[in-house]
Amino acid sequence: MKKQQLGACVTFFPQPTTLIATRSVEGEVNLMMASWVGIVSKTPPTIAVSLNRDRHTYANIKASGTFSVNVVPSRMAEAADACGLASGKKVDKQKLTALQVSSGTLEGVSLVDESPLNVECRYVSEVELGDYRLVLGEIVEIHACEEAFNEEGKADVKVFDPLVYLGGMREYWSLGEKEANAYSAGLALLNKD
Ligand SMILES: Cc1cc2nc3c(=O)[nH]c(=O)nc-3n(C[C@H](O)[C@H](O)[C@H](O)COP(=O)(O)O)c2cc1C
Repeated sequence: MKKQQLGACVTFFPQPTTLIATRSVEGEVNLMMASWVGIVSKTPPTIAVSLNRDRHTYANIKASGTFSVNVVPSRMAEAADACGLASGKKVDKQKLTALQVSSGTLEGVSLVDESPLNVECRYVSEVELGDYRLVLGEIVEIHACEEAFNEEGKADVKVFDPLVYLGGMREYWSLGEKEANAYSAGLALLNKD
């Protein structure tokens, strides 16, 4: 495969889309689109979110010590994008998008009802990266939509219909077809004589 060097840029990496829900000290809910998000540890269960230090979301997390990460389904692209275009410092994004929230198990945590997967987090620590703060959150509870589970309790994650962000093109895409089973497809190669 012939390659082209792009320099030290952050674009083109396929990313998940999430809404980070926080509350201000006054109790106002704020929703922010974030794609620099990922699970970074199983034990302890930890999620990392990279936030510009000027985000209203960052200030809310520092003040409250809690937040939720809400997976964005493809049908929510427009509302989620709006939450990435305006700051909660100026706009009531919950009112703007008409997204509904419910209380989580942690005091003061809001979960986006229209999201199929809500991850409740407690702030643990952060790593300073220039203008960004890589915020580490302990995963305290996960709320997953019931339709994703069959009678045996097996989950079909495709039901979540996650929206994918392709940074280099500034486009949102949904998932295509399943290609293989993870931790399994590679066994064919490993077991070849
Ligand atoms: C697709 C997309 C992904 C984004 N991902 C991030 C991110 O991971 N971290 C970040 O700090 N800002 C990110 N932003 C920008 C914030 O969502 C945006 O600045 C927002 O207005 C901040 O809201 P707040 O001030 O209410 O927290 C993203 C925006 C878009 C459209």
